[in-house]
Amino acid sequence: MKLFSCLAIVALFCSCSAEPVYKDPNASIDKRVEDLLHRMTLEEKILQVNQFVVGENSNDNNVIGAGREFNYEIGSLIYLCDNPVLANEIQRKAVEQTRLGIPILFGQDVIHGFRTLFPIPLAQACSWNIGLVEESCQIAASEAYSAGVRWTFSPMVDIARDPRWGRVMEGYGEDPYAASCYCRAAVHGYQGDSVANDGRIAACLKHFVGYGASEAGLDYVHTEISDQTLWDTYLQPFNAGVQQGALTVMSAFNTLSGIPASGNRHTLTDILRGKLGFEGFVVSDWDAVKQLIIQGMCEDDADATKTAIEAGVDMDMVDYLYLNNLESLIVSGNLDMDVLDEAVRRILRVKFTMGLFEHPYTDEKNPEEVFLLPRNKEVAKQLAEESIVLLKNRDAILPLSADARISFAGELGKSNGNLCGNWPCCGLPSDNSPLLETLKQSFHHLSESSADSDIVICCIGQESDKTGENHSFSNIDLPSDQVSMVRELKSRGKKIVALLMNGRPLALGEVEPFCDAILDVWHLGTMASEAIVATLSGESNPSGKLAMTFPYSSGQIPVYYNRRPRSRQGTQGFYEDVTTDPLYCFGYGLSYSSFDYSDIELSSSECDVDGTITAKVTVSNTSEVDGKEAVLWFIQDPVSKITRPVRELRHFEKRLIPAGETRSFEFEIVPSRDLSFVDADGNPYLETGVFNVMAGEKTATFRVR
Ligand code: GLC
Repeated sequence: MKLFSCLAIVALFCSCSAEPVYKDPNASIDKRVEDLLHRMTLEEKILQVNQFVVGENSNDNNVIGAGREFNYEIGSLIYLCDNPVLANEIQRKAVEQTRLGIPILFGQDVIHGFRTLFPIPLAQACSWNIGLVEESCQIAASEAYSAGVRWTFSPMVDIARDPRWGRVMEGYGEDPYAASCYCRAAVHGYQGDSVANDGRIAACLKHFVGYGASEAGLDYVHTEISDQTLWDTYLQPFNAGVQQGALTVMSAFNTLSGIPASGNRHTLTDILRGKLGFEGFVVSDWDAVKQLIIQGMCEDDADATKTAIEAGVDMDMVDYLYLNNLESLIVSGNLDMDVLDEAVRRILRVKFTMGLFEHPYTDEKNPEEVFLLPRNKEVAKQLAEESIVLLKNRDAILPLSADARISFAGELGKSNGNLCGNWPCCGLPSDNSPLLETLKQSFHHLSESSADSDIVICCIGQESDKTGENHSFSNIDLPSDQVSMVRELKSRGKKIVALLMNGRPLALGEVEPFCDAILDVWHLGTMASEAIVATLSGESNPSGKLAMTFPYSSGQIPVYYNRRPRSRQGTQGFYEDVTTDPLYCFGYGLSYSSFDYSDIELSSSECDVDGTITAKVTVSNTSEVDGKEAVLWFIQDPVSKITRPVRELRHFEKRLIPAGETRSFEFEIVPSRDLSFVDADGNPYLETGVFNVMAGEKTATFRVR
């Protein structure tokens, strides 16, 4: 008996002095979550599903009074700073001065870099360099992490086919397959193999779902998307990101076929969790819960709160509706505690997965130890160079010799802020080298006046702050003053090298004939000037190819490559007033090299539906200049009861091909992966029969039996 009572006393002592399970890093995450959840009061649970803001917002659509108070038991903060000291001060109060010590999750819009800025995502999508895009996200994560930011509201993977919509700059263009590949790369770049490792941050797939289909290119509006298109176009990159392990998703502002995305249980729960298997948490977009009232779905704050959390929005961004309404909804019995518990559970699970309880604080290093490191700038320059798209090069005027007599025109090129791009996060225009100064370092005869020059470098396009959220334009034609500038310079017998600085496709139909060369240099980030000058001088050979179609004129919108066949061919079904062809199609891009494609060889003329078939093309660099070539592989299923687009990108590979040499590129086609489609319920759909595979201008045909 004595021994037993001793053991009981020891056990009692251990249980009293032992750490709670949720603080035990060796306990399973599920056990830690359940232990903590059951210790939390209703107030603590409600605070956990709220997010507020610290710092001044660079997104002028969401200005919020600085210095507003918040409770340190809040679940998350949008941390608009690059200062780890302040982050640690706040975090210390949360972890050491609250009852349960739950760390705050600090998030920010790290869209294309934190302090070292990379090209805007739409430009990156033209690089077809998946590895470099992933590395840029890893660098962005490392810089953000060093500032105390552990969560980025990125990648934005809204498929967009309407350049009137300002947010096309934030995404990866018009193609679901390409966007899916970039999404996987971004998620892995941010989160790595284990998001608990130093320098890794949680990704956020946004904006779920269909935001890119915003009617008439306006923002915050209705989207009319069929179930079929929802699955075969808009959900594809989100599915890729979920399978890659993205820890969070952000619900969108748009209404989806009548039901707001942030109150849409079918998409947020049935599809996102039921069909795609998402296990992280969903944060609303800014004020999106409150906006359910304005959108006409809910009658008041309590209704909007109940609707959003029951639909599957786990965390409320900034509008405090969850903070102010959940208690009364629960106490009155209008909302089950289980719903709140599940939202809290998902948030806690992400925090434990990220190791936030073990490592809530950030090393307080000096900025020069962590930001703008040589490697960061080297990757930023290379990605900028590979994002540049050569659209025209009449008589091979580019590259320019160092002794060319050139001059410079166009206000757009004189602003470092423009070079950076919108959503600049903590990037500073002063980090950029001015373009004019950088040009002077490479070209000996550069004057501001065109009178002393043979060639004029003309900066045309659109300011970076005219792209991004809430920057819709009914007309994407180039401003008339820019067209006049180019025409006038041409009339004086000058050669025109246009540098297109843009965050969206622009209609260049009117100005194109006057340009001898057009380089799309987008908004390329911190190393924009160096990349532009390296390309003009030939140090870098442009290799970008468009990830979004450029209309000939605004009236063609929407125009995109992967359209379904029209019902009449020949001379019917065309505009009467302008060409029906876009100015530059998806996948278009020139090089200083010239590449010849062989015919496509197939390993067989047919394969079983569960077999494989390999397509091969050899590409020869027939020029005297080493160059990189991205081979884009498309498939076509000409006959299918769910009709298929005339072309669908299904594989791509980019490689350096030295001058005069030939390289072979292969595409191993697995029908269930590369030829299948989806039906209106999101189920894989594949019919046997004839298929075409295309690369360059070549096509080969095979049969799936
Ligand atoms: C904005 C954007 C969203 C962003 C969020 C936080 O309104 O829609 O993309 O992540 O608010 O800044």
